[in-house]
Amino acid sequence: MLFKQQALLRQKLFVLGSLAIGSLLYLVARVGSLDRLQPLCPIDGRFGPRGQDEIPLRALQFKRGLLHEFRKGNATKEQIRLHNLVQQLPKAIIIGVRKGGTRALLEMLNLHPAVVKASQEIHFFDNDENYAKGIEWYRKKMPFSYPHQITIEKSPAYFITEEVPERIYKMNSSIKLLIIVREPTTRAISDYTQVLEGKERKNKTYYKFEKLAIDPNTCEVNTKYKAVRTSIYTKHLERWLKYFPIEQFHIVDGDRLITEPLPELQLVEKFLNLPPRISQYNLYFNATRGFYCLRFNIVFNKCLAGSKGRIHPEVDTSVITKLRKFFHPFNQKFYQITGRTFNW
Ligand code: A3P
Repeated sequence: MLFKQQALLRQKLFVLGSLAIGSLLYLVARVGSLDRLQPLCPIDGRFGPRGQDEIPLRALQFKRGLLHEFRKGNATKEQIRLHNLVQQLPKAIIIGVRKGGTRALLEMLNLHPAVVKASQEIHFFDNDENYAKGIEWYRKKMPFSYPHQITIEKSPAYFITEEVPERIYKMNSSIKLLIIVREPTTRAISDYTQVLEGKERKNKTYYKFEKLAIDPNTCEVNTKYKAVRTSIYTKHLERWLKYFPIEQFHIVDGDRLITEPLPELQLVEKFLNLPPRISQYNLYFNATRGFYCLRFNIVFNKCLAGSKGRIHPEVDTSVITKLRKFFHPFNQKFYQITGRTFNW
């Protein structure tokens, strides 16, 4: 009898204990998320002095829900009107550089509640056919957003296309321009890897990187090779500077965005006059991918597609040395113009 009572008591204690632990775990999770789920507050003065403006974190959840529906075209005109949603021209553009980490930068900035990304590369300013369709066509390609939010698009071809600076200037002479760069030789190899993958997919043969990057007749760096030309950052930037002052550009370190994204993103927030909202919580390292991935909230997170972070082919070290030497003077000029120095 006594034994039975003790067993019953133990059972009761076990149930009570489980309940207590469960409640405690729930409370911990709730408190952890509470500081992220503050009540909705006004979003005016989004571009005002730092620290003064409060961005409702609910906007972030909204972005994943309602705005997503609108983007997919599932919302009625009435809903769009009711929510005061608009398709705005971008206030900032990631103009390049191809393979610098432009997608990662856009996706990471999109973690900010005040930022709305144009998911696709629009290629409005670099493609004559698109450009001929006019600015309204471009605006209609933009996602729906609240008036206080800013739209950002990225089309890395803008950086290297001759006509683009003037065209963007005509749209908005005070636009903010983001350029993400990587060590030029690595960027060139990444560029090559992407093209190579495309050729392989089509069962086409392709030259080795060494053969393309070095002119076999002169044994010098082949400046006609696009992947090399794109990495001469200063040449392209100089064309842009005919239209925009250097203060309108912000240089992002693409190599650091891979290894330590938060400080790079904080610099961009500052440049865009956005209150700091992206935190370490939003970025977690995924060992399987070997990259940082994005955490929007307790349930939604994502990594970039597998096409980002390809394995590069091995390149002859003498070719790498030659390329690094070739880029060196251009890099120096780039540091001088931008005021941002790298160890390339
Ligand atoms: P690799 O594929 O050479 O590694 P872009 O988006 O401009 O095409 O740039 C692609 C590059 O973004 C990738 O080049 C990758 O190194 C880099 N990158 C930076 N952060 C990343 C991230 N969090 N996830 C995946 N790729 C990232």
